[in-house]
Amino acid sequence: MSDPALQVENLSGGYDPVQIFQDIDLVLHKGESIGIFGPNGHGKTTFLKTLSGLIDPWSGSIRFHGELMNRVGERGSRKWRNFNYDAVTRRRMDPKTVARAGLIHVQQGNLLFPELTVGETLSISSGAAKGREGWSLEQVRGLFPCVAERGDHKIRFLSGGERQMVSVAAGLLSAPRLLILDEPTLGLSPKIRQELCDAILTVRKTGMPIILIDQDVGFLEQIIDTLYLFDHGRISGRMTHAEMPDHDGLMALLFGEYH
Ligand SMILES: Nc1ncnc2c1ncn2[C@@H]1O[C@H](COP(=O)(O)OP(=O)(O)OP(=O)(O)O)[C@@H](O)[C@H]1O
Ligand SMILES: [Mg+2]
Repeated sequence: MSDPALQVENLSGGYDPVQIFQDIDLVLHKGESIGIFGPNGHGKTTFLKTLSGLIDPWSGSIRFHGELMNRVGERGSRKWRNFNYDAVTRRRMDPKTVARAGLIHVQQGNLLFPELTVGETLSISSGAAKGREGWSLEQVRGLFPCVAERGDHKIRFLSGGERQMVSVAAGLLSAPRLLILDEPTLGLSPKIRQELCDAILTVRKTGMPIILIDQDVGFLEQIIDTLYLFDHGRISGRMTHAEMPDHDGLMALLFGEYH
């Protein structure tokens, strides 16, 4: 059998010296989409940031299409608080290498540059594709009509929903081989939520593996094949789409029965 798209073994990490998540094992096959559901502040975003190399993993391994993305080993000691160790010590994982390999992470809370226009934002993302085959600007415009209409507008003049569309569009233009979406529906109206869902489903149909974190069970249900429950920095459960309960059922699994 061919290598899975992503294979995470025994991964632990956090914000030195505080450990946030531990011993995570996860396999994502080509063409599969998985969801991660869990309470606020339990480490989902920290785990994803570690997958994409934004913060260094402490231990364990991350393989992307068979290739080991992190190295094991010491980092420099962090004795002085106001010293930028990242500038002088070797990281265990380099986010640029990760992005160039096609592991693309659309972060929580649309971290776009407010003073750039939509067009400028998208052209930076296309640059990250570095010759890899991916979505073209035309295809992305077709997927998100509002992105096409607002090309000359600065990001700061867009609504939250439009910014979210631009964030996902930027992710697609970076030629992903795996797309990570962290809470894309945060703050969106039901109508925009559905538009975004339809767009992600179109991406899914191309066979793109997807990792989706969201608090909206109805949204997750439309997109994913497998759901992981995330609790206190650990994966506490795994279920197929058919086994997924509704929102209340999931809350009961995480917190016990409540009345
Ligand atoms: N940059 C940071 N430095 C130190 N601690 C952080 C940092 N970012 C997050 N944390 C802490 O890490 C813990 C996990 O946060 P994280 O954002 O990973 O949770 P989450 O499960 O994604 O939550 P949410 O569902 O609200 O997005 C929290 O206690 C948070 O305060
Ligand atoms: Mg989060």
